[in-house]
Amino acid sequence: MSERFSRPAVIAPSILAADFSRLREEVQAVEAAGAGWLHLDVMDGHFVPNITFGPALVASLRPHCRLPFDVHLMIAPADPYLKAFADAGADHILVHPESGPHLHRSLQAIRALGKKPGVVLNPATPIEAVAWVMDLVDVVLVMGVNPGFGGQSFLDSQLPKIAALRQLIDASGRDTVIEVDGGITTATAPRVRAAGASVLVAGTAVFGAPDYAAAIAALSAGGA
Ligand code: DX5
Ligand code: ZN
Repeated sequence: MSERFSRPAVIAPSILAADFSRLREEVQAVEAAGAGWLHLDVMDGHFVPNITFGPALVASLRPHCRLPFDVHLMIAPADPYLKAFADAGADHILVHPESGPHLHRSLQAIRALGKKPGVVLNPATPIEAVAWVMDLVDVVLVMGVNPGFGGQSFLDSQLPKIAALRQLIDASGRDTVIEVDGGITTATAPRVRAAGASVLVAGTAVFGAPDYAAAIAALSAGGA
């Protein structure tokens, strides 16, 4: 096994599963508990059947957390809002290819804003969706569930896709990060790691746990 698998996974708690009435404390708690990134799920009730929050909330949390803000946009169109999320303090801005007609242009716009661009692959979206834009992609986020809700079960069909993406990235010689989102538990984390992911989004598995530090340590150790 390569060195990649001997390193602990980076855990990115999704605030979707946090107590929204105490978001500042929740965010500070997961930072203290060993989270590597903070995952922020933005939903518009149109691209996905749920509504969460927009750039104002991202901006309000920014002063209270030092973690990289990993902003997952489940909105269509996304392009008109990229600058607002960049200004709000996003570090990574992740878009779905289905959210607009010109993925390459969206990624260029994110990079021009000085942020790390990412592409999100829905369960039915093939890895070929990113193959010809890899020069503009810092993170590929593979959905383990259909986007829109936390607490769903991981789709095993995505494991060979993660492995194929790992091969694509390794063959390209790039250090693009593979992140997986949805259905991550202590049972699925090691399998996702073994397939080649290094960053795991976890909503329910962190914010639903009694001890955030123990939960993050258990998820992170899963691929060692
Ligand atoms: C789903 C979101 C996920 C979600 C994951 O649309 O993108 O980030 O919060 O939730 P869990 O970890 O509970 O599956
Ligand atoms: Zn997400």
